[in-house]
Amino acid sequence: MRTGVWLVGGRGSVAVTSMAGAVALRAGLAEPTGCVTELPQLHSPALPGLADLVFGGHDVIATPLSKRAEALADAGVLPGRLVTAVQPDLAALDAEVRPAPRGATQAETAALIAADLDDFRRRHELGRVVMMNVASTEAAAAPHEAHAALDLLHKALRGDAAVLPPSSLYAYAAFTAGCSYVDFTPSTGARLPALAQLAYERGVPYAGHDGKTGETLVKSVLAPMFAMRNLHVRSWSGANLLGGGDGANLAQPAPNAAKAASKQRVLAETLGYQPQGDTRIEYVADLGEFKTAWDLVTFTGFLGTPMRLDFTWHGCDSALAAPLVLDLVRLTAAAHRAGRTGPLPELAFFFKDPLGDVPHGLAAQWDALVGLVEGLA
Ligand SMILES: NC(=O)c1ccc[n+]([C@@H]2O[C@H](COP(=O)([O-])OP(=O)(O)OC[C@H]3O[C@@H](n4cnc5c(N)ncnc54)[C@H](O)[C@@H]3O)[C@@H](O)[C@H]2O)c1
Repeated sequence: MRTGVWLVGGRGSVAVTSMAGAVALRAGLAEPTGCVTELPQLHSPALPGLADLVFGGHDVIATPLSKRAEALADAGVLPGRLVTAVQPDLAALDAEVRPAPRGATQAETAALIAADLDDFRRRHELGRVVMMNVASTEAAAAPHEAHAALDLLHKALRGDAAVLPPSSLYAYAAFTAGCSYVDFTPSTGARLPALAQLAYERGVPYAGHDGKTGETLVKSVLAPMFAMRNLHVRSWSGANLLGGGDGANLAQPAPNAAKAASKQRVLAETLGYQPQGDTRIEYVADLGEFKTAWDLVTFTGFLGTPMRLDFTWHGCDSALAAPLVLDLVRLTAAAHRAGRTGPLPELAFFFKDPLGDVPHGLAAQWDALVGLVEGLA
C-alpha cells in the first residue's frame, strides 16, 4: 500500500525530522519510540507500513534537506551518526520538496499545487496521498462570505483578492486532487464550511488541529483528573519558552494569539468552565529546538481549602512531533482506504484543538483511537 506524504513546510524542523526518522526506522537504525501506531493495541494490517511511505512536499525556502538535517543534529534533535547515514536518502528527497507554487490568482495557485500532487502520485504509483500541514503557524483567517459555501468559494478564488489563508488553499488543492489533509498546526486549514463541503464531494477524510506534543498533552491528562475528583480549578497559567523556527514565527503577535488560544481550549472543554489564567508563549533563541513550559494550577478542595500544583516540561518539539506525523499519515491513509469521508474525530488523541464533538481527556481519546483502528481492520 504505497502511500504519499506531502509535507507543506517540507524543509522545516518537524518535516525534516519526520523524513530522516522514517528513513532511519526503515533501515533499522533507530527504534520507533514515540510512534503510537507501533504499540500492540494499534498494530493493524489496515495501516500502511513505514516502508510504504513516500515523501514529497512544498516549501517557500530552498535550504537543502541535508543542511537542515545537519542543523538539527547540531541542535541536538537528531543524532549526528544517523544524519550521516541518511544523507543519500535526503539528497534524493530534495527534488521532491518543491517550491511553493504561486499563480496570478488563488485558483491558479491551487491548480498548480494539485498538479504537483497528481504528478507525485503518478510518478510513484501511490494508492493514496496524505497532505500534512507542518508549515509556519498563520494568523487567524479574516472572515469572508465565500468561506460559507463551495460555489461562492470556487468563484471568489478566481478573483484578484486573497480569499483563503495558505493552509486553507492547500486543503482546497488537496481535496481537489482527491488527497486527504491533516493539519498539525493551529492554522485555519480545512476548518471552513466550504472546504468541508468539498471534502464530502470528493470523498476524502481530514483531521486536525495542532499537534498535542508537550504542555497541552500534560494538560489533557491532568484536567480530567481534577474534574473526576471534583476539585475546583481556580486558575491555570502557563509560560512557554521556545526557540527554533516555530519560536521565531510565534514571536509575532497574530500567530502567537492563534497558538495560545489553541493551547487553552482543552481546559474549558474538559472542566466545563474556564479557569482564570492564560498561556503565554515567548521566543528565546538560545533554547534552539527545545522548549520549556512551566504551568501553575491553583485549585480548591473540600471546605474550600486552597492548594496548588506546578509542573515543568522540557521537550524537544520536533522529536515529539515527528513520530505523530508518521502515525497520522498511516491512520488517515487507512481511513481514506476504508471509505471514510469528512472529519476524523477519532484522531483527537493527537491534537490540541480537535475537530468535531469529541472528549478532551487523553484516556477517552485513546479509547476512540483504538476503536477507529479496530474498525479499519
Ligand atoms: N513541534 C511540535 O511539537 C509542534 C506541535 C504542534 C504544532 N506544531 C506546528 O508545526 C509547524 C512546524 O513547526 P516547525 O518547528 O517545523 O517550524 P519550522 O519553522 O521549522 O518550519 C516551518 C516551515 O514552513 C515553511 N513555510 C512557511 N510558509 C509556508 C507556505 N506558505 N508554504 C509552504 N511552506 C511554508 C517554512 O519555510 C519552514 O520551512 C508549526 O506551525 C508549529 O506550530 C509543532
